[in-house]
Amino acid sequence: MKAPVVRVRNVSTRFGEYLVHDDISFDIYEGEIFGLLGPSGYGKSTMMREMILLQEPDSGSIEVLGKEVWKLGEKEAVELRKQWGVVFQESALFSSLSVEENIALLLREYTNMSPSLIRRVVATKLEMVGLSQSDGRKYPSELSGGMKKKAALARALAMDPKLLFLDEPTSSLDPVSAAEFDSLILSLRELLGLTIVIVTHDLASIRKTLDTMVLFADKKVIARGTLQDVLKTRHPIIESFFLQ
Ligand SMILES: Nc1ncnc2c1ncn2[C@@H]1O[C@H](COP(=O)(O)OP(=O)(O)OP(=O)(O)O)[C@@H](O)[C@H]1O
Ligand SMILES: [Mg+2]
Repeated sequence: MKAPVVRVRNVSTRFGEYLVHDDISFDIYEGEIFGLLGPSGYGKSTMMREMILLQEPDSGSIEVLGKEVWKLGEKEAVELRKQWGVVFQESALFSSLSVEENIALLLREYTNMSPSLIRRVVATKLEMVGLSQSDGRKYPSELSGGMKKKAALARALAMDPKLLFLDEPTSSLDPVSAAEFDSLILSLRELLGLTIVIVTHDLASIRKTLDTMVLFADKKVIARGTLQDVLKTRHPIIESFFLQ
């Protein structure tokens, strides 16, 4: 068995009086495409934010790449952050920067690469996600939804991460662009050996890309495993979720 890349143990999260996660545990293994599934508002994005040091859980522990993330000092946290890439729910590209500049930003900040090497790395990342070099010179406002997602993915890949976190990457895309994005995710996993964590409720993506998944409901994980495992689980949410 490969080592878990993410270990979530007994995590509980509340916002004021409102309990979002009640004692949740699961593991994500190396090389998996892993899904965080569930109806809207059930704490999927919050769980992802807890893994990437943006939202501290109230109790429990989260290990990423062998480090307990909420116990790290500032320097260790910076080092760990370089090892994952994130595509947020709204792509979150910097609108005043071109796509190339968006991708180059982290390389400028965290590496000693020369400007010409940065240009070459940026060109490679654009190619990896299927954007042209002239797309790279465009600004986010000049891109279609699908291109924005690809640009955000290229930026997430800038630092050669081991782990990718994607929050609903296909939810705002038409079915054709969504299917294209799913193929891209599968080929990047093959090419780079990435572990990929995806928040999604897109059924086509779930079927096509996910190896294993957890389904959140009632503040708990109510089903886990492969899609077959999840579909075998008896819970009223399962039927409504998969027959949406
Ligand atoms: N910073 C916050 N402050 C207060 N409440 C929050 C905060 N972040 C999330 N919540 C609440 O926690 C719950 C879970 O939110 P979350 O964004 O994790 O859901 P989600 O499963 O990702 O939903 P969606 O599918 O709509 O993106 C929601 O009720 C939300 O209002
Ligand atoms: Mg969300």
